Parts: sequence; structure tokens; C-alpha cells
Amino acid sequence: MRSTQDVEDQLTDPISANPQFNRAESKIAVAGHPIHAMLVSFPIGLTACALGADLFYWWTGDIFWARAALWSAGMAFLMGLLAGLSGTVELLSVPGIRVRASSWTHFIIAMTLLAVLGANWGYRLHGYEQALLPYGLILSVLSAAMVAFTGWHGGKLVFDYQLGTSSTGN
Ligand code: HEM
Repeated sequence: MRSTQDVEDQLTDPISANPQFNRAESKIAVAGHPIHAMLVSFPIGLTACALGADLFYWWTGDIFWARAALWSAGMAFLMGLLAGLSGTVELLSVPGIRVRASSWTHFIIAMTLLAVLGANWGYRLHGYEQALLPYGLILSVLSAAMVAFTGWHGGKLVFDYQLGTSSTGN
């Protein structure tokens, strides 16, 4: 009779068993540097700016900060779309990235983030001076939490699963 160890020894991981799937180098890159990794800094930074501008507007009542929040939220959304586009092309075109479930988890988290970023901007377009309390601030806090979660998860793809990285050092 075969032991559990014998059975486990015969099992293979269908992903690591296929050599093609171990290659997850970025294809959407400039001189080997993934464009997605460069673009994500913009939605991350601008989302933080939108929340900061909201807090300053709440504190000072200066309309400058309401306008700053409107522009930051808008640019966070638009740059988020660009980052999402580069990530999606990467996801669809690299077999080693496409085959991993965690890539699709990142895609779903990121799409949810983009919906929240779009709502944060769209809500302010109908009167940014009155948008802060309560929904503008709620949307900015939610955006900041979602962008942190998405960025952290994107980092896991790179640092834990080595997606988008070069195995040859070139
Ligand atoms: C909407 C679809 C998206 C897809 C399909 C996607 C896909 C990916 C993939 C495949 C990687 C692995 C590295 C690479 O191949 O470049 C990655 C990394 C990453 N993603 Fe996304 N992504 C999307 C949107 C976003 C957004 C909106 C953000 C903004 C927070 C984001 C943040 C990150 C971060 C921070 C990394 C790690 C980059 C690094 O440290 O090199 N992603 N993403």
C-alpha cells in the first residue's frame, strides 16, 4: 500500500511543471523597466494629495484646497486608468502572469479602486465647493484605503511571486 508521502511525491504543480509559465518577464517595458510599475506612482500619490487637500479645506475653509482636491481626484482617476491599461495589457500578453490567480485578484481589486476613484472625481464635478462633507471626504478616505491595498497587493505580485521581473538579469 502506498503512503501519503508517496502520493504527494507523485503530485505536480501544473504551473511550475510548465517551463513556459516560469517566464513572467514584463513585455510592456522601457529598456526592461515595466511601464506599469512607473505609472502606478501617479494614482498612489495623487490619491494621497486629494485626501490631504480635503483635510486642509475642512480645516481652513480656503476654496483653494477644494479646487486642489478636485484636480488631484481627477488626475488620480485618469492616471489610474493609464496604469490599469498598462497592467491589463501585461496581464493578457504574458502567459506566466496570466496563468496565476493572484494576478486576477490584483485586477479585480484595481478595477474596484478605479470605480471609487472615478466616483470621487465625478461627485466633485457637480459643485466642488459643497462636495466635502460628508461624501467627498468619505470617498477620499475610501480611495486612500483602496489605493494602499491595491499597491500592497501589486507589490506582492513582484516581491513574492516575481511577476514582471527578469530571470536573466537583462
Ligand atoms: C486594472 C488593472 C491592473 C492590472 C491587470 C495590473 C497588473 C499588474 C501586474 C501584472 C503587476 C506585476 C508587475 C508587472 O508585470 O508590471 C502589477 C504590479 C503592481 N501594480 Fe498593478 N495592475 C492593475 C492596476 C493597478 C493600479 C490601478 C494600481 C495602483 C495602485 C496598481 C499597483 C501596482 C503596484 C504598486 C505594483 C508593484 C509594482 C512594482 O513594485 O514593481 N496596479 N500590476
